[in-house]
Amino acid sequence: MATTLGQEFGIRRVYDATPKKGAGVSLRLSDRQVELGTREFDLYEKVSERVPGIRSQKEVAAELGMDQAGLGRLLAALQSAGLVYRADAVPATLSGIELHTLFNKILPSWLDEAFSHPFWERMTSGKGSRRMYSGWLIELYHYTRNANRHMPLSCAYAHEKAIKNMRAKHYAEEWNHYHYFLKALKALGFSEDSVIKSVPLPMSLALSNFMRQAARDDILAYSICSAVLEGTTVDRGAYNPYYETCAKLYDLPAESIAPIYAHLDLDVQYQHSDLFLDILGKVDSIPAARAGHILDYGHQLIEHIWLWTDSIEKYYGVESNPMPRPAFSKLLD
Ligand SMILES: [Fe+2]
Repeated sequence: MATTLGQEFGIRRVYDATPKKGAGVSLRLSDRQVELGTREFDLYEKVSERVPGIRSQKEVAAELGMDQAGLGRLLAALQSAGLVYRADAVPATLSGIELHTLFNKILPSWLDEAFSHPFWERMTSGKGSRRMYSGWLIELYHYTRNANRHMPLSCAYAHEKAIKNMRAKHYAEEWNHYHYFLKALKALGFSEDSVIKSVPLPMSLALSNFMRQAARDDILAYSICSAVLEGTTVDRGAYNPYYETCAKLYDLPAESIAPIYAHLDLDVQYQHSDLFLDILGKVDSIPAARAGHILDYGHQLIEHIWLWTDSIEKYYGVESNPMPRPAFSKLLD
């Protein structure tokens, strides 16, 4: 049986496709920007739709109305532009450290994608509200409290003793951090009881259940997700302006921001951002398929964060929605 196009080639992830002013499209990848003319982009789209399929190069060429040599030239051009790679160029295995290097290279593109949600621009440009800021904090409280549902699970599912220990230590250091958010919410005027008894948004639960799913599937998949989340908090320079701008714009009391800084500083002090490297340092060899699977989890987490932000903006953006969300009540509902 002839080899399929998908066995020979792979398509690299495109984070953003922006139409150019005159004509053509600009594609953003994790490590480069590729400019394509309108016709080139059209061909690229047609090829990238067909690469994962089961058809051979000959069949795809016929479908696109070109001969096999023409398709070969097109693939070579896309390959040199960095949009397409040859499957046989991918190493059969990676060391844990090599996977970490790859992760560090991709992480900025992932974080850009996660924070590309209009919510962030809205909040920092003054088009948000104290209500929306507080809503986001309530959901962060729930997500952090739910760490008690996925972190111990990740220890249970880790096979390797050293990794199990590292996951357990991380859990011991993180388990009660939701108190920082509770403290901040109290300073914003919410009663402790109303926050503790509130119900998270479905997407907040989905986010923590996704972590549970990762924990069951592969401890390295779980660890990459955990590292992505830590990656959102390590850079003081990146998160301070958000809180400071919101404090000014929405008149937030200093006591509501202080616990958040205390929490971020504690996580930095624990050096949680180094945990993924420490864990991968214990893994000698990872088959390419497993490495792909792990990276895919990391990217899926980014999509969950985007959807989570979206659901926060939608729910708390409606003034009449109860806040915090109360549990079901026989009397009220
Ligand atoms: Fe924490």
